[in-house]
Amino acid sequence: MERITNLERKYVGEVLDNAFATSLNSTFNNKLEKEFAEIFHTQYAIGHCNGTATMHTALAALGVKPGDEVIVPPLTMSSTSLAVLHNGSIPVFADVDADTFNISPEAIEKVITSKTKAIISVALYGLSPDNDAIRAICKKHSLFFIEDNAECFLGTYKGKLVGEFGDFASFSFQASKHLSTGEGGMLICSNETFADNARRFNCLGYAGVSAKQGKITRQDIQDPRYARHISLGFNYRMSELQAAVACAQLERANELVQQRIKVAEIFDQVVNSTDLLRRQVEPDEYKNSYWSYSVILNTDKPETEWYRFRDLFVKNGGDGYYAAWMLSYDEPLFRNIIQKWNGVWQKYQAGLCPTAEYLQKRMMQLKTNYWNLVEAEQQAEILQKTIKQF
Ligand SMILES: Cc1ncc(COP(=O)(O)O)c(C=O)c1O
Repeated sequence: MERITNLERKYVGEVLDNAFATSLNSTFNNKLEKEFAEIFHTQYAIGHCNGTATMHTALAALGVKPGDEVIVPPLTMSSTSLAVLHNGSIPVFADVDADTFNISPEAIEKVITSKTKAIISVALYGLSPDNDAIRAICKKHSLFFIEDNAECFLGTYKGKLVGEFGDFASFSFQASKHLSTGEGGMLICSNETFADNARRFNCLGYAGVSAKQGKITRQDIQDPRYARHISLGFNYRMSELQAAVACAQLERANELVQQRIKVAEIFDQVVNSTDLLRRQVEPDEYKNSYWSYSVILNTDKPETEWYRFRDLFVKNGGDGYYAAWMLSYDEPLFRNIIQKWNGVWQKYQAGLCPTAEYLQKRMMQLKTNYWNLVEAEQQAEILQKTIKQF
């Protein structure tokens, strides 16, 4: 199986053949947004340049303000909390569940204050968080819910697609993701006012754009009295070249996701037969889309043993696997700079989220983007050998 096929090449060729003619310069963006919204049974999809900008847009579009608090998990790529900072808001960290590694609803409840305005959950490594519980908390405390699904495409929760639960759901098309355009993102929602706000925010505050209309007209811009900017926005748009690739990838989404699931099944055969590794638990009624295959190294000495296992695996011919990112609140940015912001009541220090801290030190993220299953089988054999030797 190929990650990039002649379909992607054909669509990109069409954009180049059109030489970015203004009249045609939204063709793939419009097609992509329409099809994306249909897949997630929603009304609006708004293309973005990446899956960090999407979340900044979502917060701004919901009216979350500087100084407001937004609850996020610490065990994630930091874009989740960086987007909160981009909005001038304050990330408040809630611990994660020891089995699913996703944000824990009980932990969320503990950090809600009168300043909390929203929760951003993450479908970590492709697995849904407990959306029903998070929605119930949002309803009880009148909070907005944003899904960060950068790592999850076509994963499901109780029979519905991950992405069908939040006020906004965000996706990334960065190079490592299920669908890739190199860089890119998508934001979906069902509320027209929020979608209008989102489009305008991602499009420099232009008056002429709206929920379903990502472009201002030629008549508008040819009028010297045309007042363009009615609010402050960023230029977070997706380019037509990215959209062309994304349209092709979306047509192939099923095969791209299924391939990762097959790779996970291959790793399962090894991991399920050892106590040394413990995989991310997929509860009943959840379907993981396996952006990566994540396991915990069962050890009391992660400081040395993580490296010893990794070195042995690589020596045996294994691909280097990834560690979990440092917990966001452990990053120097948070410890040294954000901690000093006015209004940050939470102490960004060790002990804040003990479960996340336990998991982070032991996490191994095995790649699932093998386009040839023979390679995945070889990696699984090397993993097996490494476990025996360790
Ligand atoms: C959980 C999560 N959120 C957000 C992002 C940011 O996406 P992007 O790189 O498209 O900005 C990523 C990864 O890139 C991610 O893994």
